Amino acid sequence: MKALVLSGGSGTRLRPITHTSAKQLVPVGNKPVLFYGLEAIAEAGITEVGIVVGETEAEIRRAVGDGSRFGLRVTYLRQEAPLGLAHGVLIARDFLGGEDFLLFLGDNFIVGGIADIVAGFRANPADARLLLTEVPDPGRFGVAELGPDGRIVGIEEKPQRPKSDLALVGVYLFGPAIHRAVRAIAPSARGELEISDAVQWLLDAGLDVRSTVITGYWKDTGNVDDMLEANRTVLEGLEHGVEGEVDGATEIIGRVRIASGAIVKGTRIVGPAIIGTGARIVDSYIGPFTSIGDGVRVEDSEIEYSIVLDGSTIQGVRPIEASLVGRAVEVTPAARTRAAHRLVLGDYSRVRIA
Ligand code: G1P
Repeated sequence: MKALVLSGGSGTRLRPITHTSAKQLVPVGNKPVLFYGLEAIAEAGITEVGIVVGETEAEIRRAVGDGSRFGLRVTYLRQEAPLGLAHGVLIARDFLGGEDFLLFLGDNFIVGGIADIVAGFRANPADARLLLTEVPDPGRFGVAELGPDGRIVGIEEKPQRPKSDLALVGVYLFGPAIHRAVRAIAPSARGELEISDAVQWLLDAGLDVRSTVITGYWKDTGNVDDMLEANRTVLEGLEHGVEGEVDGATEIIGRVRIASGAIVKGTRIVGPAIIGTGARIVDSYIGPFTSIGDGVRVEDSEIEYSIVLDGSTIQGVRPIEASLVGRAVEVTPAARTRAAHRLVLGDYSRVRIA
């Protein structure tokens, strides 16, 4: 069985981070979201993986390489434009051949892995098996309608009036019939070939579509709030370990990981929190559920429940919370002469000033 991982898409809901970087590479717990998926695929015993890439191909190739460090053999498949998940399957036809396969959306984050689900499908194949989970806001997702016997009777993509609160998780198992479906459907109102429509086509053709409701944790990390929640979940399971340099004036409470080459002085860190390689944290407070990337400088500042990407500087700012700070960003107070905010912000930035 092969896996097809979709890592195209432009990540509009994560702008401005995704102006310069692929959404699948935004880290949670200082590791790209996509890596958790690749690890889960390897753990499920799959080694042949196709990654569908778009504009951010170079960056994804640089991060994942040939896949060997995950125990995978990766083939890159270029999608010329983000034309939909089913379009990703369409262009992967030759790579996938006639085998059953796992379709995995590169920005989805599943706690507990997929080994059981993949093993179940190997033992009990069908034309499709979908994973569903209850969500409070089904209108943001593909939504399944189940019949009285618990079988799927219909799928709707981002319906205005959802027929259930069961969302499609971004993990699907397919037999070869899906290739006929993705060729048969037409683009949706948003101009994409929807995988939901392809599954509906299988249902209409009377094929065998099954589902498994999962209760474990799942996030589509398409927006900042979900990203922070995924980060929180990863840090919940963090193991304590201090490799960097920590001075006597620093207080560390709870589970905190400080990577080698990091320097922490005169700071209070309340875990779970992770500090990346070469970071420099001075006279500050780092609160729970915070991931500080490699080479980040935090001085005279307070930050919690946030993600700060590599190479950024936060100096003299407190408190910062529920924030996602991109790469090589500078956050500092304005000069003291006037109580004015001075901003240099990328397109689609969002700033909330107290
Ligand atoms: C896609 C699918 C949707 C599914 C979701 C899971 O949505 O179209 O059916 O529920 O992934 O993450 P998109 O991320 O393209 O909006």
